[in-house]
Amino acid sequence: MAGLEAHYSARDIEARILAAVRAAGLNPEHRLSPEELGALDHFHTGGLGASRELLELAQIRAEDRVLDIGAGLAGPARLLASALGCRVDCLEMSPDFCAGAILLNRLTGLDDRIEVHNGSALDLPFPDHSFDVVWMQNVGMNIADKRKLYAEIYRVLKPGGRYAFQEMAAGGAATSYFPLPWATDPADSFLVSAEEMRSVLGESGFIAELFEDTSDAHLSRTTADAAPSPLTLGVYVDNLAQKAGNARRSLQEGQVRLVRGVFRVK
Ligand SMILES: C[S@@+](CC[C@H](N)C(=O)[O-])C[C@H]1O[C@@H](n2cnc3c(N)ncnc32)[C@H](O)[C@@H]1O
Repeated sequence: MAGLEAHYSARDIEARILAAVRAAGLNPEHRLSPEELGALDHFHTGGLGASRELLELAQIRAEDRVLDIGAGLAGPARLLASALGCRVDCLEMSPDFCAGAILLNRLTGLDDRIEVHNGSALDLPFPDHSFDVVWMQNVGMNIADKRKLYAEIYRVLKPGGRYAFQEMAAGGAATSYFPLPWATDPADSFLVSAEEMRSVLGESGFIAELFEDTSDAHLSRTTADAAPSPLTLGVYVDNLAQKAGNARRSLQEGQVRLVRGVFRVK
């Protein structure tokens, strides 16, 4: 986890978020829309666009109860709650990110639909069969014990429930460019190949509805130069340019692959 620990305290993160919001010309005293925060709070490959795509693929409905594991600042949770109206529980290991998530939920007026819990993906603080959907973006790379992780996800899903995710998988060669966004050094990075991921999910009781490698699609997207904005991941991720550059190079050279899936409980 060392690679992803918040480097800023809860107080710093809150202050930095508020400063970035103001610097972007937004007024935190007025209700903010989740969309206008998208470049700040979707901390995963492909950003807000990737979350929108996963939301469609998972066919999440307003009445679904959703758990977002490793929720970060809860940008994806706010997208789900605002676009679909569903209730979302966020589970996040870093208390500092939890504080940032709670602040942004309040600033967007979504705190009545989103609850933030501090805890571990390997010991989910929820009863069996609590959720229709478990959602996870760019988190599994930090978790070594995939069997325990999938067992916990399976346990909290209702019969017929779905696990929707995206994450990095191991490619054909060892990961060699560090720091990466999920790991400052190799000791923090727990990648498995797409084949192994699928196989362990199957052994954990999941049935694949969709499983695809989106690396090439991601790389072929032209990164049109967006106007520089104070609302970036750099508000709470240090050394962002180098980490993002290393991630792109690792993808280009096939050291890592970007995968996403929707799996159903039997
Ligand atoms: C790259 S961020 C992704 C945040 C969020 N899913 C998003 O896409 O915006 C990974 C997050 O997973 C959290 N995390 C890593 N390992 C975890 C674990 N074992 N249990 C809970 N959260 C974890 C980190 O603290 C971090 O906030």
